[in-house]
Amino acid sequence: MTNNNPIGVFDSGIGGTSIWSAIHDLLPNEKTIYLADSKNAPYGQKTKEEIVALSKKNVEFLLENNCKLIVVACNTATTNAIRELRNDYDIPFIGIEPAIKPAATNSRTQVIGILATKGTLNSELFNKTAEMFQHTTIIEQVGYGLVQLIEDGNLNSPEMTQLLESYLQPMIDANIDYLVLGCSHYPYLIPQIKKILPDHIQIIDSGEAVARQTQNVLREKAGFTDGKNNSDPVFYVNSNPAVLKSILENKYPVIEKDF
Ligand code: DGL
Repeated sequence: MTNNNPIGVFDSGIGGTSIWSAIHDLLPNEKTIYLADSKNAPYGQKTKEEIVALSKKNVEFLLENNCKLIVVACNTATTNAIRELRNDYDIPFIGIEPAIKPAATNSRTQVIGILATKGTLNSELFNKTAEMFQHTTIIEQVGYGLVQLIEDGNLNSPEMTQLLESYLQPMIDANIDYLVLGCSHYPYLIPQIKKILPDHIQIIDSGEAVARQTQNVLREKAGFTDGKNNSDPVFYVNSNPAVLKSILENKYPVIEKDF
């Protein structure tokens, strides 16, 4: 089955571009539309009801743009709203959740760390998954302040380093051997995180797994493009376009729009 409609991707802000990149690398012929709801970031401190309402607003914008499949490139939105989205809209959704399973399965120390938003760590979906790994000690840490600093373009600030050190040192002391990045903004912090973590601690994020899952769902349900109408990806943002442009290294058009 051929389907030339775009893949829609949304996040509370610019972080989901880390997931978008993995999708674009694996499926370069597919048209993509990315939505950064930066005006409402961070989602991580909002209530479930607020996160569901914002996620629906984003989905409706992507549906108006004829998306054939939607990737919720946000752990907070996935863990709080994907069930409601799947109930309300007749289109395939792919979500992103903290990669507890590969970390717990491969951990030698059986102690792993998870850095994520409060909304993700408090969600029912996350806690159900965590319960499946009773033999692993999971050290959960809310990344207070990190998303806002990234959205403000302060990736390499001393404040960022200080926050990361305060969140990671207790995990190092507890002997983790895996750190799961449970927020799609955090892969942009990997260079800084690596400076803090000892070399033997592995960092896991979910970008490539989401890209592979997108490929599977296109194959099974939504259909691949025939590649003939190939066009540049389109990025929409509703606040602070400069930061999105800079994270994309000015390679793609960014449209500022209120949605
Ligand atoms: N990037 C998001 C996530 O994966 C949301 C961060 C936020 O808005 O708090 O959780």
